[in-house]
Amino acid sequence: MRAQVKGSPEKSKEIVPGGVWNDVDGNYINAHGGGVLSYGGKYYWFGEHRPDKKFSTQVGVTCYSSTDLCNWKYEGVSLSVSDKAGSDIEKGCIMERPKVIYNAKTKKFVMWFHLELKGKGYEAARAGIAVSDTPVGPYRFIRSGRVNPGIYPQDMTAEEKATVWDEEEYKEWWTPKWREAVNKGLFVKRDLQSGQMSRDMGLFVDDDGKAYHIYSSEENLTMQIAELTDDYMGHSGKYIRVAPGGHNEAPTMLKRNGMYWMITSGCTGWAPNEARMFSAPSIWGPWTQHPHPFVGKGAEKTFGGQSTFILSLPGDKYIFMADIWKPDSLMYSGYIWLPIDFDKSGKPVIVWKDNWKLSF
Ligand code: DGJ
Repeated sequence: MRAQVKGSPEKSKEIVPGGVWNDVDGNYINAHGGGVLSYGGKYYWFGEHRPDKKFSTQVGVTCYSSTDLCNWKYEGVSLSVSDKAGSDIEKGCIMERPKVIYNAKTKKFVMWFHLELKGKGYEAARAGIAVSDTPVGPYRFIRSGRVNPGIYPQDMTAEEKATVWDEEEYKEWWTPKWREAVNKGLFVKRDLQSGQMSRDMGLFVDDDGKAYHIYSSEENLTMQIAELTDDYMGHSGKYIRVAPGGHNEAPTMLKRNGMYWMITSGCTGWAPNEARMFSAPSIWGPWTQHPHPFVGKGAEKTFGGQSTFILSLPGDKYIFMADIWKPDSLMYSGYIWLPIDFDKSGKPVIVWKDNWKLSF
């Protein structure tokens, strides 16, 4: 995406990872940690509106539309923060990583996002839901909360479920004993009644229309994948743990030739780190870890970015999307979009490109 000059009629024809990405009016695109919905011949990009200087959410979730994925028109704020004191989404909360999916049965657009309550840092670890009859919105906030209260993950053994952990004994993190306890579900049990923590998140809609919420849980130590109800408005109660103790964030997913591929990051705040990749023949696993898929300068640190979404397009095409976080001015965090190739064995390969054209 070449920087658009304000008022210039010149259309952008290429994607410039890490470049200055402006909308068609010449304003910086402020849609971070986002995802793209394809609906009715248009693409809708939803993301976090981040302030120039402050940290917390002052505006909400923004939306941009495009027909060619290169030229983006600002559509406004799809989900606004609330001015009401005490609202879950009160101005000053933190809204991160919004994703929107369309439910063909209910004809509703459903937005899920990571929500942190105002003044509570990252302690709440909730998933928020909002809904709209149109892609752009405005979306109506429904509720927020943790995931699947009172329900154990499918892949926890009877022994793990029965174990009673003495929290005092596991106060010190990163000891071998603590690691073992985490792997066996120390935090799943701790949070069983309140529901599982949900921070960095993505959504994935399968070929059969079933949708899944993929999120960093258990103090960001373990990912979980939870099935959504048929209307996408809640969790069905069926969920698994992925890579226990693996410390993954920023989950993204694609499915190709019956194989599910997940690309995530490690947990280093806003600083880039080495990405991780996993595959599974079923969404319910077993999940196998592979080396990261990146090739080129900076590949070891995800080219300076952190994954946010994989856009699947017709014709077996996929675009990997990432954010280059700028913690001093989150608004000006940058974007990396790159095409995904596949090697002979079917593994995703993502090669750095200074610029590229969408040939599809
Ligand atoms: C890394 C996460 O991936 C981001 O979405 C954000 O939560 C930052 N951490 C906050 O430090």
